[in-house]
This record gives sequence, structure tokens and C-alpha cells, in this order.
Amino acid sequence: MGCLTLLLLLGVPHVWGSSEVPTAPKNFTLRFLQISSFANSSWTRTDCSMWLGELQTHSWNNDSDAFSFLLPWSHGNFSEQQWEKLHHLFQVYRISFKRDVQELVKMVHGAYPIELQISAGCEVHAGNGSESFFHVAWQGIDILSFQGTSWEPAPEAPPWVQVVSKVLNLDQGTKEMVQWLLNDTCPQFVRGLVEAGKSELEKQEKPEAWLSYGPSPGPGHLLLVCHVSGFYPKPVWVMWMQREEQQPGSQRGDVLPNADGTWYVRVTLDVVAEEAAGLSCRVKHSSLGGKDIILYWDRSHVSLGWIILAVLVLLLLIAGFILWFMRHRSYKSIL
Ligand SMILES: *[C@@H]1O[C@H](CO)[C@@H](O)[C@H](O)[C@H]1NC(C)=O
Ligand SMILES: *[C@@H]1O[C@H](CO)[C@@H](O)[C@H](O)[C@H]1NC(C)=O
Ligand SMILES: *[C@@H]1O[C@H](CO)[C@@H](O)[C@H](O)[C@H]1NC(C)=O
Ligand SMILES: *[C@@H]1O[C@H](CO)[C@@H](O)[C@H](O)[C@H]1NC(C)=O
Ligand SMILES: *[C@@H]1O[C@H](CO)[C@@H](O)[C@H](O)[C@H]1NC(C)=O
Ligand SMILES: *[C@@H]1O[C@H](CO)[C@@H](O)[C@H](O)[C@H]1NC(C)=O
Repeated sequence: MGCLTLLLLLGVPHVWGSSEVPTAPKNFTLRFLQISSFANSSWTRTDCSMWLGELQTHSWNNDSDAFSFLLPWSHGNFSEQQWEKLHHLFQVYRISFKRDVQELVKMVHGAYPIELQISAGCEVHAGNGSESFFHVAWQGIDILSFQGTSWEPAPEAPPWVQVVSKVLNLDQGTKEMVQWLLNDTCPQFVRGLVEAGKSELEKQEKPEAWLSYGPSPGPGHLLLVCHVSGFYPKPVWVMWMQREEQQPGSQRGDVLPNADGTWYVRVTLDVVAEEAAGLSCRVKHSSLGGKDIILYWDRSHVSLGWIILAVLVLLLLIAGFILWFMRHRSYKSIL
């Protein structure tokens, strides 16, 4: 049994120290996303959401007339009055946005359906600086952005956008409002939000890793798959290694969300079958405190074979013992 335990232990991730650990970003970006669909001259809907980095903090569906606060700390440090003011502002904005787009379509003889997307917000730096952005896309193409103090057409925008931005730039009140929201409100809100959500934002969940075969890439080749799951925050480093050498053929998939808010990623390597031995998958993550996870391809697979063999031997021994015991008893009973 001691041998079996040892074999089982060999299959368990090997852990050792390393210095380059991906750390959580010190910059926080708040994004306000708006999607407006105009199916025809009468049917329209607008849905909005707000995101702090990868975390959705607010939503505002077409049917609702205020933001839904999705996290316990989504209010940040803004007071009820501040939220009321913002809600009122966005209600007015939504109505005028719909009206203005419908008028614009008439003016430029545009055709429905139309899809408009807006991405606006700010990136607050670890010190006290911040940068803001406000981009508008029409049918999936960037057409307009707010730059510093005025609206600018995007380089690839159709000619009518020039006219639109000129008209928008005449509206001093709206431009000042946008600057107030981008330069002052947004960074202030982010700082308060980050403070309020500190414990969740600083959460660290350790990854688990395991190896498997992928579908064979061709005769004589193996696709080795290294799965890493259950980690938080999102930045992670995963690489196939030959001793200390990174394998440039490592293919990393998208980092995908798990249902519990943690992340999953897989990294594959296409190798000639004989060269699989000695390869390992190495995982660095901020939650591991510098102790990388290292999984060896050969050992984990060799040990699986050995475990099966050990179990078989054990079963044979038990069967032999039972046989011997039964013979012994029947011999005794004959006596
Ligand atoms: C934070 O923003 C600053 C300024 O744009 C940039 O130099 C820095 O690389 C950013 N840091 C991270 C971790 O993204
Ligand atoms: C507008 O589009 C909606 C949704 O596609 C549809 O149900 C409605 O009949 C359309 N109305 C007109 C006037 O075309
Ligand atoms: C979206 O909301 C507007 C105003 O609140 C409403 O007139 C419209 O019918 C809604 N659209 C849909 C598709 O529910
Ligand atoms: C933060 O702002 C203050 C005053 O506005 C300035 O003196 C200080 O240098 C800034 N600190 C950083 C890290 O940017
Ligand atoms: C807002 O910030 C931009 C730079 O991002 C600057 O050009 C503009 O003057 C600022 N506006 C106000 C009102 O502070
Ligand atoms: C929220 O916190 C930020 C940074 O800590 C601060 O600049 C801002 O004034 C606060 N707002 C309120 C309403 O307390």
C-alpha cells in the first residue's frame, strides 16, 4: 500500500518557486456600454451595462428606468442624491438619443435596421491620473469619439459623420456635460467603487491544473492539453516547458468564465509522440505566491499506468488470498 500512495503522490502537481508572477492590474477601467437597436422607424430598444474591468457592476435594460445595482457595493460611495441626479440625466439622455437618431436617419436617408454601440468610461491609474474615452460605432464600425473637448469623426467614418460631429460640436451644454462625466464623475466613482469592493477585487483563488490528450493532430503526433481552472483574478501564465525552456508551439485558448466567477484556460502543444516525455506544463498565478504549479506529462501518465498495475496486483493478491482461505477451510472441513 505504501508503494501505491507513493505512486499516487507522483501524479500530484509539483510545486516550486519562481519570481515572475502575473499580478493583478493596478489600473481600473470603468466602461459604460450601450447597445441601441432600431429595427424600423418605430421599433427600438436600448440596453446598457457598466463594467469594472471584467466585472459587471450595473445594468439598465430597455424596460427599466434606472440602473440595477448588480453587486452589493455597486453604489460605490455615491449618495442617494448623486444617483438620483445620474438616473435623471440618463433618462433624459435615452429619450433624446432615440429621437436624435431617428431624426438623423430621416435626414441622411439611412436605411433600417440600425445598430448603434457606445463604449464610454475612464481608466483610473494607481497614482491619481486618469484617462477617459467615449466611442460610438454605427453598424459595427467606429464613427465618432469624444476627444478632450470636442467630437471627432473616426478616420473610417462615412462622410455624413462630418456633418453630425459639426452639429454635435455646436451644442456647448452637452459637451460640458460629457467632460464633467468623463473627467470628474467617472474617476471619482471608480475610486469610491474600488474602495467599496476592495475585498472582492482583491480576492485570490488558486488554480487547479490537469493534463489530457486532445484529438490527434496527425499520425505520429500527440496533442497535449494542459487545463487550468478555478483561478481569480484573470491574469495567468501557462506554458508547456522542456526543462526550463518554454515551448513556442504552446497554443493558448481564450480565458473563459466558470459559473462561480473564476476563470478557465487551456494550453495545447502539438508534439511528435516520442518527444512528449519530459515535457511539463507550468502555471504562474498571483494566488500561488510564487509557487508555480508544474505538471509532468510523462510522470502523470506513467504513474496512471503504474496505478492501474498496482490495483491489478492488489486485486490478484486479494483473489489469491480468498482462494487460499477457501481451500484451507474446505480442507479443514473434510478433516
Ligand atoms: C496603468 O496605466 C499607466 C498609464 O497609462 C501605464 O503606464 C501602466 O502600464 C498601466 N499599468 C497596468 C498594470 O496596466
Ligand atoms: C418593426 O420591427 C418590429 C420588430 O422587428 C416588427 O415587429 C414590427 O412589425 C415592425 N414595424 C413596422 C412598421 O415595420
Ligand atoms: C424600449 O423602451 C421604450 C421607452 O421606454 C419603449 O417605447 C419601447 O417600446 C421599448 N422597446 C421594446 C422593444 O420593448
Ligand atoms: C496626485 O495629485 C497631487 C495634486 O493634484 C500631485 O501633487 C501628486 O503628485 C499626484 N500624485 C501622483 C502619484 O500622480
Ligand atoms: C477634460 O479632460 C480633457 C483631457 O482628457 C481636457 O482636454 C479637458 O479640458 C477637460 N475638461 C474639463 C472641463 O476639465
Ligand atoms: C468617493 O471617493 C473618492 C475617492 O476616495 C473621492 O474622491 C470622492 O470625493 C468620494 N465621493 C463621495 C461622494 O464621497
